[in-house]
Parts: sequence; structure tokens; C-alpha cells
Amino acid sequence: MKTRDEWRKDEEYVALVADLLAQPAVQKLANYTQHHHSDRLQHSLSVSYDSYRIAKRLHLDYVSTARAGLLHDLFYYDWRTTKFDLGTHAFIHPRVALRNAEKLTPLNSKEKDIILKHMFGATLAVPRYAESLIVSLVDDYEAQAEFFGPLKRRWQARMQSRRLVKN
Ligand SMILES: [Fe+2]
Ligand SMILES: [Fe+2]
Repeated sequence: MKTRDEWRKDEEYVALVADLLAQPAVQKLANYTQHHHSDRLQHSLSVSYDSYRIAKRLHLDYVSTARAGLLHDLFYYDWRTTKFDLGTHAFIHPRVALRNAEKLTPLNSKEKDIILKHMFGATLAVPRYAESLIVSLVDDYEAQAEFFGPLKRRWQARMQSRRLVKN
């Protein structure tokens, strides 16, 4: 997303996810840091909205993409500090998110696959649908943008001020 609130101006998108966004279980994601500079709700909205737009452009199931994209990281622990006996965070959290999402809304098989396979690349679970692949690629892209974006802006500002000093 170009700006944090770009999705708010898209009425069609808002209508697709409004019932989910109204749920405390989704709003609670704002309390968790995701990639250093972003909270998990903001991250989930970015992944959902950007994936939705790609799916729409490709004439795919953008409704399932928007909804499952928003729920793909529906878990409530700090992944940087919580460790599991059963496996890695990459393996565990899609399963936790799916279980939590099922408590909020009925999910079709595509939505389940989107949530469960969004770590494709880090795990061996291969997406069954194009929509799942889109969400997993956008998730990777957003994670990098959220991590490096603020650093890049700070770096650019510093270079800019150096140039001003030199001139
Ligand atoms: Fe995730
Ligand atoms: Fe994610």
C-alpha cells in the first residue's frame, strides 16, 4: 500500500472485510508488533488489500483473498520471543491463525488454504490455489517493506541533509 490508510477509501474492499474488522479478535492484532516498524493489524490490512487488488486484476476470487488475507496472521503472541516445542513459528502460526479464524467466520476451502499456506517458501506446504500464492508473495513483500521502508526513508533523509551541507 502506498499509504497506511489507502484501503479505507476503497468502499468495495471495506464492505468485504467490515464484519471481520469489527471483531475485537481482529482489532486486538494492533497490540502486537509485527516487523519492527509495523503492528500486526496494519500488516494484515496491507497484505489483504494488496492481495485483493492483484486478485481482482487477474479475475480471481478477490473476496476470499481479501478476507483470508486479513486473517492470515490471526495469532496472539510475540513471534520474536515465544518458542515452541512442536516446531518453528513458520510452521505453527498458520495453523494457530486458521483455528482462530474458524471461530470468527465460516471459511471456504480456498480461504483455509490461503491462511494455511501463506508461509510457502519457508515451509513445504504448497498452495493449492493461485489466490494462496498471491497472499504468500505479498506477505513476503510487505514484511520486507515494513522492515526496510522506515530505514530507507531515514537513510534518504540523511543523504539529503548531507547533500545540503555540501552544497
Ligand atoms: Fe504469517
Ligand atoms: Fe504475514
